[in-house]
Amino acid sequence: MSLTIQAARLWDSILELAQIGGTPDGGVSRLTLTALDREARDLFTRWVAAAGCQVAIDPIGNMFARREGREADAAPVLVGSHLDTQPSGGKFDGIYGVMAGLEIIRTLNDRGIETKRPIEVVNWTNEEGSRFAPVMMGSAVYAGARGLKETLATVDRNGISVADALNEIGYAGDADLSNRPIHACLEAHIEQGPVLEQKGVPIGIVTGGYGLRWFDIDIHGRESHAGTTPMGLRQDALVAAAEIISKLTAMAIRFEPEARITIGDLSIAPGSRNTVPGHVQLKVDARHPEAAVLDQIEQEITTLCREVQSGRGTRTEIVKVADNAPVRFSAEVIAQLREAAQAIDAPAIDLVSGAGHDAFHVARIAPAGMVFVPCAGGLSHTPLESATPEDLALGCEVLYRAVLALANT
Ligand code: HGY
Ligand code: MN
Ligand code: MN
Repeated sequence: MSLTIQAARLWDSILELAQIGGTPDGGVSRLTLTALDREARDLFTRWVAAAGCQVAIDPIGNMFARREGREADAAPVLVGSHLDTQPSGGKFDGIYGVMAGLEIIRTLNDRGIETKRPIEVVNWTNEEGSRFAPVMMGSAVYAGARGLKETLATVDRNGISVADALNEIGYAGDADLSNRPIHACLEAHIEQGPVLEQKGVPIGIVTGGYGLRWFDIDIHGRESHAGTTPMGLRQDALVAAAEIISKLTAMAIRFEPEARITIGDLSIAPGSRNTVPGHVQLKVDARHPEAAVLDQIEQEITTLCREVQSGRGTRTEIVKVADNAPVRFSAEVIAQLREAAQAIDAPAIDLVSGAGHDAFHVARIAPAGMVFVPCAGGLSHTPLESATPEDLALGCEVLYRAVLALANT
């Protein structure tokens, strides 16, 4: 099957972007709203401008590169993902989806194809949530799931706010693009899991996504001297945290196979070897495809923290910083993606995504859907993340055909 999109051009664009924040181990470290993010945004702006798009930027820095259609007032088709990465990320997470959107524009231009509807390639701000919580921040504000003001006031661990960081890189926009009709929103992404590779299938038609809840758990103990405080008299915040972590992990196993509980970030104060820790903060990520089970997990987190604090004499505070409901994608968009895969004889299976994506938030306000391609070993959020040019191109071809069909309905 010969492809319509240009596989080499897609691959080269991904690799060129990967140079910005590239790390010696082959990964990419390009945190949101940093100078490196600005560099990537600037390069994206040059590329889409060269492809004849007009770029609009909204107040949270989401970028919309618009290719006009015959009917300028028709609701557009959005296609995109994110350019920010994890602190120790890979070349493809997010970047592939934005470059696949750009490749669609470039291919339509090559072929002189005019669509009925406008098409907008989107770079959503701060999908990763690593620097500023929560995850999928820009798309959450766009879809009305989070307030703009509270989000702009969010600070990173150095006390820098989203607003200041946006102004610093010159991407605080004023285009008010929310509350407008969107015909459809599509996103291509590496699976970030092992299923497609294990099954030897190149295309995943994503039918929906897991719910996600983030909790900051602050454990307050009492600082004291490491050499003089008998073990039985300590209120050691780190020992209490360790007990909470093992109870959280045991709970996740009880809710297997779908439950996921991760503590990817932990801070200790005062952080001196010869002082009993007085304060620990755990950043918890809990996921499951069913809201009712997430409710149960949330309830159990409160209970187990209470048990530990009474046993250890510590005090625990739990703040929920993100609560994204499970997502079901649009039957119409799923059908278009399935049809596109069939048209090129690409084997495809349905998948529910454990990873969060910007299309999840947009799915609450418009018909949305996603296409996945395999990644080596199912690995992502690591410099080891890798995908083949062939798989990326096939996924982009499926996306191209679905976007073209939707842009003409
Ligand atoms: O955390 C997530 O699910 C996304 O990859 N940022
Ligand atoms: Mn992503
Ligand atoms: Mn990610």
